[in-house]
Amino acid sequence: MKKLNAKQLREMWINFFKEKGHAYIPSASLVPENDPSVLFTTAGMHPLVPYLLGEKHPCGKRLVDIQKCVRTGDIDEVGDDYHCTFFEMLGNWSLGDYFKEEKIPWSFEFLTSPKYLDIPKEQLAVTVFAGDETAPRDEVSFNAWRKCGIPEDKIFFLPKEHNWWILASGVGPCGPDSEMFIDTGKPKCSDSCNPSCSCGKYIEIGNDVYMEFVKKTKDGKAEPNPQKNVDTGFGFDRLLYISNGLESVYDSEIFMPIIKKTEELSGINYKQSNETKRNMRIIADHIRASVFIICDGVTPLNVGQGYVLRRLLRRAINCASRLGFEGSKLAELVQVVVDIYKETYPELEEKKNFIKETILQESDKFSKTLQQGIKEFEKVSNYCKDGKLSGKTAFRLYDTFGFPFELTKELATEKGLIVNEEEYEEAYKLHQEKSKANNDKVFKGGLADTGEQTTRLHTAAHLLQAGLKALISSDIHQKGSNITAERLRFDFNCDHKITDEEKKKLEDFVNDAIKKDIPVVCEELSLEEAKKQGAVGIFDNKYGEKVKVYTIGNVSKEICGGPHAKRTGELKNFKIVKEESSSAGVRRIKAIINF
Ligand code: ALA
Repeated sequence: MKKLNAKQLREMWINFFKEKGHAYIPSASLVPENDPSVLFTTAGMHPLVPYLLGEKHPCGKRLVDIQKCVRTGDIDEVGDDYHCTFFEMLGNWSLGDYFKEEKIPWSFEFLTSPKYLDIPKEQLAVTVFAGDETAPRDEVSFNAWRKCGIPEDKIFFLPKEHNWWILASGVGPCGPDSEMFIDTGKPKCSDSCNPSCSCGKYIEIGNDVYMEFVKKTKDGKAEPNPQKNVDTGFGFDRLLYISNGLESVYDSEIFMPIIKKTEELSGINYKQSNETKRNMRIIADHIRASVFIICDGVTPLNVGQGYVLRRLLRRAINCASRLGFEGSKLAELVQVVVDIYKETYPELEEKKNFIKETILQESDKFSKTLQQGIKEFEKVSNYCKDGKLSGKTAFRLYDTFGFPFELTKELATEKGLIVNEEEYEEAYKLHQEKSKANNDKVFKGGLADTGEQTTRLHTAAHLLQAGLKALISSDIHQKGSNITAERLRFDFNCDHKITDEEKKKLEDFVNDAIKKDIPVVCEELSLEEAKKQGAVGIFDNKYGEKVKVYTIGNVSKEICGGPHAKRTGELKNFKIVKEESSSAGVRRIKAIINF
């Protein structure tokens, strides 16, 4: 297998697909802009959902990208050799263009050709869909892999549970997939050993999803999608360490400098013990993820994305204190992360001071909460009977004051108390189940489900931005946007609170445009042309060479991926329901339509 550094691997991926007629598109934000169904972009397909459902993409039917992703489902596994909360996904896309027969030989070429990854084909194993009532056994993929020279006993037919891909929301484009694995050469764990068992013989490196179905509701049936797509995802971080023959992802160039700096901050050697290793790995992972999340506009909060960020930072702070250093020192890791990634993501360099400041503030807040927790501990420990501290109390200290369980145990021991660990575990589990159920609420009503209303709200956001520019200041621009099925939320720079009178004017402005029932026209233009025409946009590196421009009469012209309402009349009416501060110099408006 070829040893590649991060830069070479990125370039190799992009160039391979460019040579095969794909247009490169930059990574979208980690925070999905117009999809209420998830907190973070969890896969490369996420920002492309409308195009997988048939919307035309301005860059064509063949795309290649490297998408930033955050997945926190496995947060408790972080610290092992390869689980990470943030990662980059190498993606390529056929939007109703080529399908299985063309894609499989390309995957094979990328993996095995001496020009590319150069993995000996004997080291590969693949899986294909075994078939069920939704879709037949995938003989087409099986035959395509056979044609490439993969022997029959290295192609495994697996059921839906392993070889079917859909977003965590359970709605949207979906279909059977074919997964690719490195066979490590370890002995089989049993006669039925296959890539789906977790014995460590097989390591997954990527998959091709054949998105020829769509699920409109979570509990509904997968129906044929008029457009047959291919969605490929390879784990960049994973390929990097495997191709370099390293023991873990943390030994690679994208993590080692962070670990080295943590050794310096703690004065402890990474390899001192398994515990040290685990703590340093968690710090490296969580700080890297936090840097990217903050850079995409999230700040620590008790809800939504901000809650995930808060949790990552506080876990990292706890690890720092286990290693004997102050949580505030973690801010020193920001520069290290920025240096690793700034060539690929220049926005990190621009926002690094803000990122550092956010981490410092959170560490300060957390240490104050901990101090309060210590006081609370003193109080409750005085009431403990029979030398026992209940697990419920220990859990409350964790939940309300962020007390790690070990800290409660330590303080209790000092006081000669024993903590009921079993009861704590039970309370913790119950809490996890509850928060899972809450996450499901976030997922309820995904994009496919609530498409029409979110689409209209999206158009309302354009009208609102036009109103803000026309009535308040032409310097106003979008700082963030989030749309659920119920409302739009729009953040923008502004030095003052929007007065009641201004609110009224804005509502009139938007309602006037709605009343005129103006058509919403979409054009594909080069970025240059769009700028020339004065289209509003966030002119950072997030656009491809060609962009979609949505024009609403002479009211609004914006660069945007869409989709949008066909005419403004569909919005019926518009009302601002809340105006508040979002952060320094940034105001937030929440508004509803069609009420
Ligand atoms: N969407 C597929 C994945 O995330 C490629 O694994």
